[in-house]
Parts: sequence; C-alpha cells; structure tokens
Amino acid sequence: MIEQSLFLIKPNAVMQGHVGQIISMLEDHGFSILKMKLFRFDEELARIFYAEHIGKDFFPRLQSFMCSGNTVALLLERESAIQHLRELNGDVSPEKRKPGTIRALYGNGITENGVHSSDSLASAKRETKVIFGV
Ligand code: CMP
Repeated sequence: MIEQSLFLIKPNAVMQGHVGQIISMLEDHGFSILKMKLFRFDEELARIFYAEHIGKDFFPRLQSFMCSGNTVALLLERESAIQHLRELNGDVSPEKRKPGTIRALYGNGITENGVHSSDSLASAKRETKVIFGV
C-alpha cells in the first residue's frame, strides 16, 4: 500500500550538516518528497508534537533538544513507507542500531538520534497536521 509518513531531520543532524546526505538516502530508497520545510521547534510545539511522551523521565531532555536548533520536516511517500522508514532509521537505542542505518550514521545518542518518522498511519496524519497544518 502506498503510504505517507512525516519525517524529521533533528537539530543535531541539521547542525552537523547532514541534511543533504539524509535526503539522498531517502531518495535512493524510493521516497518521494511531497512537502518540506525548515523551522525551529518552540516548547509549545514540542509538547504538541511529542504529546504521548509528556510525563516520561526523558521528556524535558527531548523538549530542550528539539528546541536547540533548526529541524527539517518532510512529508514522504512510497510503498509501505511507515515500516520502510523505521528500518532505514534504525533503532532508538544506540546499541541496537544496525550499521548503515541513518541513526547509526548520524545519531549522537538516544535523544539526539538524528531523525524521526511516524510509527503508524494515524500518527503520520496527526504529525503532518501539526507540522504542515493540513
Ligand atoms: P523519536 O523517534 O523522535 O520519538 C521520540 C523521541 O524521544 C525519540 O525519537 C528520542 O529522541 C527520544 N527518546 C525515546 N526514548 C528515549 C529514552 N529512553 N531516553 C531519552 N530519549 C528518548
């Protein structure tokens, strides 16, 4: 099934100059870019985007990291996009990341993990509305 996913290139990867390499990897894996923008999270937008994580011990660190610099957001499309992106991203935990995944290449730890993609079609819809307004 052709699916859409919201994808973020997070502040650590933007600051370290990896936007072009990450977008090349996405294009090499057959993703079409439907929308793209560069912006900076503020605390309120981070609370809305990561609402399911409010109250978890790592939330303050996540919120402050996401507000620490620019983020690039993309709306991506391809067959089985949700699952394919999660494999291409690699695991949240650094020790479980497979070599060659985006987080293995450009992640700097569990919070500063370089990229985000939606974990379900419902999340993709919600996150796309939060970031792109449609
Ligand atoms: P992401 O895919 O954007 O979804 C939630 C984010 O929270 C995750 O990537 C990490 O940046 C962060 N995160 C998840 N689990 C932890 C954790 N145990 N400790 C610190 N940060 C976490």
